[in-house]
Amino acid sequence: MLKVWRNRTELYQQAGALFIQLSKRAISVKGRFTVALSGGATPQGLYLSLADPVIQKQFSWEKIHFFWGDERFVPKDHPDSNSGWVKKNFFSKITVPESNIHPIETDGYTPQEAARVYEKRLKTFFPGGDFPRFDLIFLGLGEDGHTASLFPGLPELEEQVKWVVAPYVKKDKAARITLTLPVFNSADQIVFLVAGQEKAPVLKAVFDPQKKENYPAQRIQPIRGSLSFYVDQAAAGQLPGKNVR
Ligand code: 6PG
Repeated sequence: MLKVWRNRTELYQQAGALFIQLSKRAISVKGRFTVALSGGATPQGLYLSLADPVIQKQFSWEKIHFFWGDERFVPKDHPDSNSGWVKKNFFSKITVPESNIHPIETDGYTPQEAARVYEKRLKTFFPGGDFPRFDLIFLGLGEDGHTASLFPGLPELEEQVKWVVAPYVKKDKAARITLTLPVFNSADQIVFLVAGQEKAPVLKAVFDPQKKENYPAQRIQPIRGSLSFYVDQAAAGQLPGKNVR
């Protein structure tokens, strides 16, 4: 489902409202809520908005468990660390139990070891053997159609068994750690957060039925879940018949 919002501010307000609504519903039923966060400036803008004193009061943070869809292979105090950024800029402003924070650990591991360690952590939290069913996964969209750390052409895009892999990412000249497509596609709700004029071409391509699955982002197809694109007008600029809700 595509939702076009006037600007980033409205996009973040609406994505935050959805997060609140979904978390309240899941917590009332199961007593907890699991969310996987994405790196990137657009998703990070949402996290900053959730730290607003009025907004943050609407969450039962003690019942919400935070995971990551991907991580750069850097130390947790490195400026590029996705979890490091969230801890410094978001968790520092809300009260969330340390035991609810499940970062992808990289310090002291090789990329492959870090992937195995995170997979083990996920399998402990989500026992039962099937792929984990996150209540909510936030994703960004790169201008090349990547999402999380699933970049075009990576062999890891075809992984159907592992939950976590460590692809070598040419543009970074480094490894990353990322959940695999079967894990993403087992989620209950997936929300892409896409903003800015620079994303208009890739968003048009992603929604172009002729370009079926040319992009990793197009392979995000939740099996028994919902997929939403929360975009601003600037990013929707090349979509046919874009309208503002
Ligand atoms: C990361 C993300 C990545 C990001 C997109 C969009 O770790 O960087 O996983 O997939 O979400 O590149 O980022 P922007 O919103 O900054 O364009």
